[in-house]
Amino acid sequence: MQVFKFKQVDSTQILAKKYLENNQKIAAFITESQTSGYGKQGRNFYSPKTGIYFSVAYPKFVPNREKISLLTLRIATEVVECLQVFFPDKEFKLKWVNDIYLDGKKVAGVLTELSKDGLVVGVGINVQTRFFPEEIRKKAGGITSDHFDKEKLTNELLKSVEIGVKQYSDDSFLKKYRQLSNVIGKNVVLEIGKRKITGLVDGIDNLGRLVIMSDGKETAYSSGEISKVNV
Ligand code: BTN
Repeated sequence: MQVFKFKQVDSTQILAKKYLENNQKIAAFITESQTSGYGKQGRNFYSPKTGIYFSVAYPKFVPNREKISLLTLRIATEVVECLQVFFPDKEFKLKWVNDIYLDGKKVAGVLTELSKDGLVVGVGINVQTRFFPEEIRKKAGGITSDHFDKEKLTNELLKSVEIGVKQYSDDSFLKKYRQLSNVIGKNVVLEIGKRKITGLVDGIDNLGRLVIMSDGKETAYSSGEISKVNV
């Protein structure tokens, strides 16, 4: 894998997507900070120097059409397993589909973008970030104020992404994903565009879809954003 390192960029995701257009080798784009980092649905991903931000470009990635819905979940599970090794006293959780939580706050996110040119996987971790912009202050958090080996953690996270991308179609990881889930058994609001579904999360099925019981009927959803979780 080729590795490109930067001090500051707009978004490693944007760089990786441009790279895909005319390159054939897998490449990672790592930066210390981003000015326009983004997450799911184009939402801003606050990226100061206290975090880890990278994207990996996979040119000519051929998806397993039946199992591709597992990809983001698989990578998120790998990332959590990696974080557990570095921060063994912390209890990380997964909020379907791609958000990593700690003590009720989002501390990391995984973004997968697939196009005709290939796949880009982005990972952003608020490792030591303590101060967030007003609009996300209640929802976002950091992992630690202790010193950590940024390079070592980044390298291990890159390996986690590699494993996730190689092995996503083997659904046995779902057991772990379900254990880490902070929404199973909870009442949630799932937003799909303008639609809002309110119901109880019964589980996550073998394709990684969120199964919600609403108005006496169970439905599996493959996309959407959980906007509210009630215990
Ligand atoms: C999400 O919260 O929905 C996913 C966040 C993904 C953020 C990472 S940081 C590195 C890469 N560059 C970006 O602009 N986004 C991803």
